[in-house]
Amino acid sequence: MFALTHHTENQMPKFLFVQSSIRGAASVSGQLAASLKEQLDVIPGNEILERNLGGNPLPVLDGALLDALFAPADALDSVQKAQTALVTTLIDELKAADTVVLSAGMYNFGVPVQLKTWFDYVLQAGRTFRYTASGPEGLVKGKRAILLVATGSVYSKGPTATADFMVPHLKQLLSFIGITDVTVVRAEGLAFGPDAAKAGLEKAAAEIRTLKTA
Ligand SMILES: Cc1cc2nc3c(=O)[nH]c(=O)nc-3n(C[C@H](O)[C@H](O)[C@H](O)COP(=O)(O)O)c2cc1C
Repeated sequence: MFALTHHTENQMPKFLFVQSSIRGAASVSGQLAASLKEQLDVIPGNEILERNLGGNPLPVLDGALLDALFAPADALDSVQKAQTALVTTLIDELKAADTVVLSAGMYNFGVPVQLKTWFDYVLQAGRTFRYTASGPEGLVKGKRAILLVATGSVYSKGPTATADFMVPHLKQLLSFIGITDVTVVRAEGLAFGPDAAKAGLEKAAAEIRTLKTA
């Protein structure tokens, strides 16, 4: 059994769902997120905020945005102001959450570009991490993450486990900003025929049901 939140007594537990599938209603990781949301919805007081990156993709980080992030506020044009304001909004959403739920399908052995871009926005020196004399330090502390992952093959064990460049990458990105309490739920083997897909989905659904609110 897992305690699902880090909230303290009398605080409304806040969940940030960041969804990144490009497959809309067909998304398996989206279905996992929907199951978890249903479970959370029935508990009074839970606050759920959603960022659907698949449906509303962030523009990929480019040189113009990078320049804007390092320029003084009064030097920004209106486009740059909107871009940097969006970065601030995303960081605020992250910092406000007790639990961050990232749902993602594996695309070409890695993180969907939509989710990678979200990290490119929220990993900001001085705001979500900083460099110290003894190395980097995450500044987003006291939070928990849940990864809801869908894959065609199997990566939790067996010969293809070493080809999982998604979950280790996500854990690294999270730990860099200070989130080291990470639970991974995998729906895997989805491309191995209907029986394997059904079993993979059922296993993930059962794991989601064991995620309990504190
Ligand atoms: C563009 C694309 C690339 C994919 N690459 C992989 C892969 O490298 N390994 C894998 O196991 N499955 C791969 N798959 C299968 C997906 O991981 C699987 O369909 C999963 O359900 C996708 O998540 P989603 O349904 O939430 O979008 C790929 C699917 C797509 C659409």
